[in-house]
Amino acid sequence: MNDDSLPIPSLRVGIGHDTHRLKPGGPLRIGGVEIPYDRSLDGHSDADVLLHAVTDAILGAAAIGDIGELFPDNDPKNKNRDSAEMLLLAKQEVAAVGFQIANLDCIVFAQAPKLSPFKRIIADRIAEILKIVPEQVGVKAKTGEGVGAVGKSEIMQAQCVALLMQIP
Ligand code: CDP
Ligand code: ZN
Repeated sequence: MNDDSLPIPSLRVGIGHDTHRLKPGGPLRIGGVEIPYDRSLDGHSDADVLLHAVTDAILGAAAIGDIGELFPDNDPKNKNRDSAEMLLLAKQEVAAVGFQIANLDCIVFAQAPKLSPFKRIIADRIAEILKIVPEQVGVKAKTGEGVGAVGKSEIMQAQCVALLMQIP
């Protein structure tokens, strides 16, 4: 019950956002998929910008913190850690407080490479990690129109919204 003595809604929306710098040397790892490219993302874990945004979206929707709280970047255990494993653990935390995923919608902000050929593969992989179906996962891509840190290929970013529903 909240202040108005109304039941808490059984649907919860969450948002996730992430940024990683690009460094020389491929392959690029986005959404748990290796994409041929001569640059990759830099970070403490495997730097999968999209899986990090998805992780924060589901944690946020359940109001149980964020990826940095669950997996601190000063913990050696998390060095080069597989983001798919972190996402699955986050899903289990979400389930532990009574929620399942209704759907996700994601955007990857990358000037290059062209992600269109990989969007379906990425959605399939995210669904596989989360044990949901690909129809529950939207994946979109945007360039930075050649301007700013995304447009100059200094960084990639990702955003995700997640809708959770109470497990009956
Ligand atoms: O056309 P608009 O300015 O809205 O978007 P854009 O950033 O120029 O991207 C156009 C289309 O390219 C997107 O809708 C994506 O389908 C695709 N795209 C892609 O495949 N890979 C990227 N890294 C960025 C965009
Ligand atoms: Zn990240």
